[in-house]
Amino acid sequence: MSIQPISISKAEELGWLEEIAVKPNAVDSLKSFAKLFGDKAVFSTSFSIEDQVITHMIFSNNLDIKVFTLDTGRLFPETYSTWAQTMAKYGKPIETFAPDASQLEPMLRSKGPNSFYESLENRQECCNIRKVEPLKRALGGKKLWVTGIRSEHSANRTQMDKIEWDPSNQLFKFHPLLNWTMDELKEFIKMYEIPVNPLHDKGFVSIGCAPCTRAIKAGEDFRAGRWWWEQADKKECGLHVHAS
Ligand code: ADX
Ligand code: SF4
Repeated sequence: MSIQPISISKAEELGWLEEIAVKPNAVDSLKSFAKLFGDKAVFSTSFSIEDQVITHMIFSNNLDIKVFTLDTGRLFPETYSTWAQTMAKYGKPIETFAPDASQLEPMLRSKGPNSFYESLENRQECCNIRKVEPLKRALGGKKLWVTGIRSEHSANRTQMDKIEWDPSNQLFKFHPLLNWTMDELKEFIKMYEIPVNPLHDKGFVSIGCAPCTRAIKAGEDFRAGRWWWEQADKKECGLHVHAS
């Protein structure tokens, strides 16, 4: 798919959305965006510590922002438990997008369940079927996509802005916790007794699918535990594509 450059009117829109995005309190920004975009604003959760903070902000303030997750079918048992605990705490629905069986079944039939270890092509095929295609469905017709991305995650993410135009999905992306530190996240989680994935306390910082994520050692890059058998510059699953 060819990526279109941002148009002048979108650039202008981005300019004034920035004023909302940089409000000192993330909840204030979310409230304003919820009013502005209504049911065209969505938040994607992987039940990471960042995403749990945003989920709390949305649910406890009854914001009109739909929360959705991509259930790849290969998440950790701890992630499924965190998901169940979150629904129990807030009593709110979490929209769920699962892989299309008509794409998943032929891949499993011909290549088996662990083809992603065999080549970059196979890994990208699995990510496309289990994550990217369901994401496209989740974002269809939406105008604002809220994520839990933080600068600390990777070198690439330190250069990001809180709000950006996403040319591949043709919508704005907002990262309310971009500049939060891990200590700030932990403090917030403790204060509001928010369920948190227990893997975070076992050396897992960035948590994706179980077969493709492992704990990292002190001093290692946050993304070192994702697709560890691949070269660093190949470690993207296609959810977050940057124009720059
Ligand atoms: S990824 O690009 O490596 O897969 P990462 O784990 O850093 O993503 O998470 C960044 C953000 O992407 C999360 O805060 C969340 O908004 C979104 N995200 C990642 N995985 C999922 C998922 N399985 N379901 C929904 N959103 C997800
Ligand atoms: Fe498949 Fe691994 Fe990508 Fe999950 S992270 S979709 S299991 S290749």
